[in-house]
Amino acid sequence: MSKHKHLVAPSILSADFAHLYDDIAMVNQSEADWFHIDIMDGVFVPNISFGFPVLASIEHYAKKPLDVHLMIVEPDRYINQFKEAGADHITVHAEACTHLHRTVHAIRDLGCLAGVAINPHTPVSQLYEIIEDIDLVCVMAVNPGFGGQKFIEGTYRKIRELRALAADRNERLLIEVDGGVNDHNALALLKAGADVLVAGNYVFAAKNPAHAIAELKKITPKLISV
Ligand code: DX5
Ligand code: ZN
Repeated sequence: MSKHKHLVAPSILSADFAHLYDDIAMVNQSEADWFHIDIMDGVFVPNISFGFPVLASIEHYAKKPLDVHLMIVEPDRYINQFKEAGADHITVHAEACTHLHRTVHAIRDLGCLAGVAINPHTPVSQLYEIIEDIDLVCVMAVNPGFGGQKFIEGTYRKIRELRALAADRNERLLIEVDGGVNDHNALALLKAGADVLVAGNYVFAAKNPAHAIAELKKITPKLISV
């Protein structure tokens, strides 16, 4: 478990794109901490979401950091443009980067937080040599590409493993969990060591999305001193 209060990042992928301003305003006024923005290229994942113009429009109205999750091949080609369009954090997939060390340093050089996402099949050990160079790990709890999928139970073990690795080598590392997060699994995820809960369907399919965000925020795992 992290020593700090956890963060909640609603995933805009599940917003109503015809009324995007309303959903941005809702997140601004809610207890949410970040906007989670999913960029999909139809190559790395079997879906296409949206690109720079939409991101720049979100940035225009968003009053909280933009946590941009790139599900694209060759992300190095575009990180400058994502920064220019308003990204505060840029997360790339370990599976999409041949020179991950170069990529995360290029992201940091732009002044953004550097994140690395790992797919469900990718072991935490893959991050062993890069753990000190990154600010955030996004642990995928579904196979990326779509909102509203079922949470994969093996995620808890991966988060625990990552927390243990980070305890030795990068105490400030933020562990984000993305996919299938809801009010049933959030407490266990925080206890396992997650710092950031991304939630799409749970928030935007709720009758009252701001209330759903507040529900995730108010979970307080008892602090265990270690
Ligand atoms: C999945 C995306 C997620 C997605 C989460 O590929 O990376 O951010 O929007 O949505 P839910 O919470 O509905 O699984
Ligand atoms: Zn995501």
